[in-house]
Amino acid sequence: MPLLQRFCGIRVLHSIHVAPGNAGIAQLAPCLPVDVTDASAIADLAAELDVDLVVIGPEVPLMAGAANELEDRGIPCFGPHKEAALIEGSKAFCKEVMAEANIPTAMAKICASMEQVEEALDFFGAPFVVKDDGLAAGKGVVVTHDRFEALEHARACFTSGNKIVIEEFLDGPEVSLFGISDGTTVVAMQPAQDFKRVGDGDTGPNTGGMGAYSPLPWVSSAVVAEVTEQVLQPMATALKNRGTPFVGVLYAGLAMTSRGVRVIEFNARFGDPETQVVLGQLETPLGEFLLAAATGQLAHFPPLRWRSGYSVTVVICSDGYPAEPRTGDPISGIDLAEALGNVTVYHAGTQLKDSTLVTSGGRVLSVTAHADTLMQARNRATEAARLITISGSHFRRDIAQLAADGRISLD
Ligand code: AMP
Ligand code: GLY
Repeated sequence: MPLLQRFCGIRVLHSIHVAPGNAGIAQLAPCLPVDVTDASAIADLAAELDVDLVVIGPEVPLMAGAANELEDRGIPCFGPHKEAALIEGSKAFCKEVMAEANIPTAMAKICASMEQVEEALDFFGAPFVVKDDGLAAGKGVVVTHDRFEALEHARACFTSGNKIVIEEFLDGPEVSLFGISDGTTVVAMQPAQDFKRVGDGDTGPNTGGMGAYSPLPWVSSAVVAEVTEQVLQPMATALKNRGTPFVGVLYAGLAMTSRGVRVIEFNARFGDPETQVVLGQLETPLGEFLLAAATGQLAHFPPLRWRSGYSVTVVICSDGYPAEPRTGDPISGIDLAEALGNVTVYHAGTQLKDSTLVTSGGRVLSVTAHADTLMQARNRATEAARLITISGSHFRRDIAQLAADGRISLD
């Protein structure tokens, strides 16, 4: 199991169980069915398997209280309690904690009616930033110059019963930074950049993420240290002071604006597809690192070790993504892509149907390459993505292009 060994640092006979998993990870570890919205079912499964550590991936089981239930049963868990995961579950709550901790972020107004939305749009002016307060898998945000589109989005969010957050527009390149927190101490990983818009040149609607690269040649370790001090550590401290310490990934989405760093949002988990490139660069055994976080030991953990070179990932999406992804299309060519060397194809929306690999969601595969230079890594990931065939699928051809050309800087 070379992949899991690399990511989890399995040196002896450790085993990994995945629930519920997908067709990709099923090649590496046993997958067990579980209802990810049912915290007791998750804890029952962990107890039955007698595991040493549970790592909770996505936000849905976090918000359902899986970490709370695991703690009640005495099972170490990497992932925050539902009260702390609310930094992702509610943008309004996150803004409140940021204000308390003096963390730089966009000015925002929380609206409960269309009148308040109209007022807030007038207050901030174009470009308008309109956000669904609740979880929306990366698609709840509309950034537009078109006031009509902004109002339509707000109306649609109200229809699903949520509040709206209207914000000032932040310019500047975006950075994703994962802070691993044990409740008290935060250790920052190498930063990554994610590409949110569906089309080349940052066009079209927002998605969950169309590609990423790491590290960022234009963000120094001094900048990362500064952001850790100004953003990640104060967030962990504020949550601890509220009596809801955060154990897990404090994932800061940042805008590097002309006026300094600003937080766009916090998530309570590893980001997709940034994780594929950040973990692709990590040499420290991930399992040991996450166990140290889950058991409050990060202050004593040795500094993280990183591979040299760069990782780039290109996400292949289904026909119709993000509006109406089609599922059930056969997938071929993964072997051709991986045969290029230093390429790993991670599965997201895949499923085995009558022994054929087919699409089962919007973002299907994340084609990840490693190379000595960013240009080589992006060229290889893009070439590998071209070798994969899925009817009607699409992917961006410009992931990491600006940075590889040296056209992004912080000044
Ligand atoms: P979020 O779900 O909050 O991360 O937002 C998704 C994407 O919308 C971000 O990655 C940004 O590209 C964009 N966005 C969100 N908030 C703002 C803002 N205040 N100014 C500019 N762009 C934003
Ligand atoms: N890449 C964005 C996210 O995981 O939310």
